Amino acid sequence: MPLVPLKDVYADANKKRYAIGQFNVNNLEFLQAVLEIAEEKKSPVIVAASSSAIKYAGIDYLVAMVKTGAEKISAPVALHLDHGANQEEVVMCVDAGFTSVMIDGSHGTLEENIAVTRAAVEYAHKRGVTVEAELGRLGGIEDDVNVDEREAFLTDPDEAERFVKKSRCDALAVAVGTSHGAYKFKSEAKLDIERIAVIKRRLGIPLVLHGASGVPKELLDKLVKFGGEMPGAKGVPDEAYQKAIAAGINKINIDTDLRMAFVGAVRQVLVEQPKVFDPRKILGPGREAVKNIVRQKIELFGSAGRA
Ligand code: G3H
Ligand code: 13P
Ligand code: ZN
Repeated sequence: MPLVPLKDVYADANKKRYAIGQFNVNNLEFLQAVLEIAEEKKSPVIVAASSSAIKYAGIDYLVAMVKTGAEKISAPVALHLDHGANQEEVVMCVDAGFTSVMIDGSHGTLEENIAVTRAAVEYAHKRGVTVEAELGRLGGIEDDVNVDEREAFLTDPDEAERFVKKSRCDALAVAVGTSHGAYKFKSEAKLDIERIAVIKRRLGIPLVLHGASGVPKELLDKLVKFGGEMPGAKGVPDEAYQKAIAAGINKINIDTDLRMAFVGAVRQVLVEQPKVFDPRKILGPGREAVKNIVRQKIELFGSAGRA
């Protein structure tokens, strides 16, 4: 079917308490993997492109590929800008056919963040496009961080309430202890689940968990076995997804796990079959590995069968 505004699929997820996976893509293989599993699992999915994905692949190629793929399947697909940096990027993506955008004003002051988000909402909503904003700073909750330091970067519920009222964003990314990439926690993984529940009770809107990759042991082991190096990598455990969803998360962003799966499989071919130089025989196993991760996440997030 044609791409859907993210708002359309959020309503059901919010009501029935499940989360929709955001899967970041940069190329054809990742996109095919995500869409094939969305259809297999009858799940809504969010295909996301970051500013750097857009620079890498070109916005026209990305939009054309995602539209083509979405129209071939019956599961709903939203195309989302991940971490839009400014209004220029928001306008570019809305005009190019994205059905959801994130404006990430989390690095500025609260008032600056409200202002940039409000401007994005003004532009996007008139065109039927959903807007996600972010409040707080992503970063692991470490044991040696004191309460004041911790409060300084996790999302504050009072600020969140004021922020959403003023900015009128559709969904809010919250900082609750996760961070981007493969090194999320120095010791034990910790997420502030109670904070998610409090914010959800106050706002009622869909909440988003960024930096949510699990960095599963089997992916790490495979990467290392075939020459990769990721010492000390640590991600979000599976049980934390369930707790975060029960507390009010409706969108979970996954990029790192897909990258690890893809690169592990590609490394295996290169190491085990040094004579292979047909790129399809190298990238194809990468695509299969991405499919396995998307399948696992869709099952964990509870979005299977909701399409
Ligand atoms: O949140 C960041 C995403 O993983 C995108 O990363 O900017 O390298 O595409 P990227
Ligand atoms: P990971 O790096 O944990 O996959 O997070 C991705 C993300 O939050 C994209 O916005
Ligand atoms: Zn993110």
